[in-house]
Amino acid sequence: MAPPPSLNRALAHTNESTHVGPSFGMNLLAPPILPSTIRSGSGKKNADKARRQHKRQVAKKEQPGRPRSSFSKKCAKLPSIKVGYNVASPRTANGAFVSLLPKERSGREWSLDELIHRGFKEVKWDGRTPTLLVDEEDRIITVLAGRPAGDDWDEVHTEISTLLHKAGSKVSKPRKQEQQGNFTSLSFGVSYGEGQQAPGNLAHGECNGAVIRDIMQTKAVQRAAGFMNSCFAGYAPKLYEEYHSNLSLLFAQYPHLERIFSNSIFPTATFNCGPRVVSLDRVDNTNIPVGFCAVFACGSYDPVQGGHLILFDLGLVIQFPPGSTILVPPGTLRHGNVSTRPNETHQSFTQYFPGGLLHVVGSTKPALRNWFEGHDDERYQRAMGLFSKISDLQQDQQAVFSLKGSI
Ligand SMILES: [Fe+2]
Repeated sequence: MAPPPSLNRALAHTNESTHVGPSFGMNLLAPPILPSTIRSGSGKKNADKARRQHKRQVAKKEQPGRPRSSFSKKCAKLPSIKVGYNVASPRTANGAFVSLLPKERSGREWSLDELIHRGFKEVKWDGRTPTLLVDEEDRIITVLAGRPAGDDWDEVHTEISTLLHKAGSKVSKPRKQEQQGNFTSLSFGVSYGEGQQAPGNLAHGECNGAVIRDIMQTKAVQRAAGFMNSCFAGYAPKLYEEYHSNLSLLFAQYPHLERIFSNSIFPTATFNCGPRVVSLDRVDNTNIPVGFCAVFACGSYDPVQGGHLILFDLGLVIQFPPGSTILVPPGTLRHGNVSTRPNETHQSFTQYFPGGLLHVVGSTKPALRNWFEGHDDERYQRAMGLFSKISDLQQDQQAVFSLKGSI
């Protein structure tokens, strides 16, 4: 299927910020040109153009990743795959494939042949064509988002792969196989849980901290971070708004917390350095149960042979080419990836929301407290309603980002 580059071009405009730090959302740009300065017809045109640009820039600062109207219009025509799963009742609607694997995580690698043999369906994705996976009630529960339009993206993801590869050789490898798999990873950003009394910035030793900072500050990683965030904003606008507003409260309440990228609302991220990342099957129960994490894959590997994303609950194994981004609900769907070949490299960069952070906000905003605990049906249904349906996506984008009007 031919890729629609114009769609991701409409998203890619959000990736240009190069700043890292805690400043986004608050700094307004230069003031607009006032009507009194308009002297002539062409001067008025220029002033109007400048004013529109200013409004767009302010909006982008306040809502990093906001889509353009042109993107919104094209979303209705995106290809989709309906899966036999209902995200609102995961325990009772796991579909036909739940019996194919043990309920507990296997803790081992899976090959493509083995999964196909067990009945998994392979999705042959080109890494470019945005494709939506929807549940039985048409909720968008996974997004094969693609990559930004532009000729230089191969250079960008190759550079990120090289950066992660070098980082992996500088920091210590895990002594034993960790739960996620046997590879080096570096997490950074905001965390809360495991006995912490208050949310904090993940701490690192001098070496690891310097390595992370060096990678974060590259234009390539910042562009990827921005694109991943813009995918989240575009395909899950209600979830984006929910998290953005709550995280804004969190950062205001705890001023010592640092934002990791100015062009992304995700508070936490991980560089999976590899050199050959094989993520074992898991449900990330420390992530927000209802929501997405963004996964960017890179490396030198053949995506037909390996590196696929496995969604165990959906019985799907999805080709995941280097340089592309997928959004998955990691706290809901059991996931992992197929191993790549021994002579290949395979890495990833993920951005996500630790679930505990919303509980902290919830402590000052009680309406959120029992969101996911199953004790309050109304709140649970509200949480489920934050997933957009394809039929409502354009409307949701317009509601969250005020796409109609002068911006
Ligand atoms: Fe995960």
